[in-house]
Amino acid sequence: TPRVFSGIQPTNHLQLGNYLGAVKRFVDMQNSGIETLYCIVDLHAITVWQDPADLTRATRELAAGYLASGLDPAKSILFNQARVPEHVQLAWVFNCVARMGWLNRMTQFKDKAGKNREAASVGLFTYPSLMAADILAYHATKVPVGEDQKQHLELTRDIAIKFNNDYGVDFFPVTEPVIEGVATRVMSLRDGSKKMSKSDPSDMSRINLTDDADTIAKKFRKAKTDPEPLPETLDGLADRPEARNLVNIYAALGDSTADAVIAEFGGRSFSDFKPRLADLAVEKLSPLSSEMSRLMQDPAEIDRVLEGGAERARAIAAPILKRTYEIVGMVT
Ligand code: TYM
Repeated sequence: TPRVFSGIQPTNHLQLGNYLGAVKRFVDMQNSGIETLYCIVDLHAITVWQDPADLTRATRELAAGYLASGLDPAKSILFNQARVPEHVQLAWVFNCVARMGWLNRMTQFKDKAGKNREAASVGLFTYPSLMAADILAYHATKVPVGEDQKQHLELTRDIAIKFNNDYGVDFFPVTEPVIEGVATRVMSLRDGSKKMSKSDPSDMSRINLTDDADTIAKKFRKAKTDPEPLPETLDGLADRPEARNLVNIYAALGDSTADAVIAEFGGRSFSDFKPRLADLAVEKLSPLSSEMSRLMQDPAEIDRVLEGGAERARAIAAPILKRTYEIVGMVT
């Protein structure tokens, strides 16, 4: 039976790309009845320095975002990574399986480390081994993510295959990325060639789940576009990245398709379309943000959810780690 695993880093606020590209699809998979684990990857977050108080707050806020979006601790295992030490223990083994050359090719590392690689943390470099451990500690086979995580998931497969080969076993499954829908790569509102990101210095580049209605409307109004009206056919979006992005966002928010959005708005100007987009976003997101603030008033309850999830997660991961150690030859 398939098992689903995915994770999000608790850094800054959840943004619309995370919601449409990941969380919303986590909820769909949960509700399709498969076993689902959704993690808050706090150990990944500290590969770049985080203020400790901010990290704590962001961890609870992300948990609140999961719950407000419809993840249900009775249906999904919701937990934070640091509470399940098996992730780190397995990551060590994978650090010894993965090759320097593989990690050197990771574009996320190159982007995040920037020009001065000597100054990047070692954790940032070995980030993908920990990610492989997150997934394979549960023998998860389906991983819903946005487009930007594809390369990391290919590495996860390479690690599983090499482990199996090195030790002559058929133990770790080959993982499949699930990158589906119209919102696998939501772009910045200021620059159609950059993805929307929690860490973009410009807050105008993204919609945060914590933004109020006025802020959402303002950000869409000021979103960069070309001066032409929306095209009459989907092909007309091909070389118009900003227009395509807004159409895709509208489609994803409304559980519709880019085709249907073009059928409705083709030929209309952005001054018509943007307020409609803002209304739809407010309609869909404001219940989430008010539920998140309500949940944040009771951090003890959030912590209880995470603690319960971690216990269930460990029950799955511990025997898989033990078996891994035995395969490798550790006396356990
Ligand atoms: P993170 O925290 O950067 O992003 C969380 C999820 O949101 C997706 N995403 C987007 N999707 C569409 N458009 C965007 N602009 C956009 N920005 C982000 C990401 O693809 C991701 O699915 N390495 C991961 C976290 C992780 C993980 C894992 C994921 C750690 N262990 C195991 C899956 C399985 C990351 O940094 O995601």
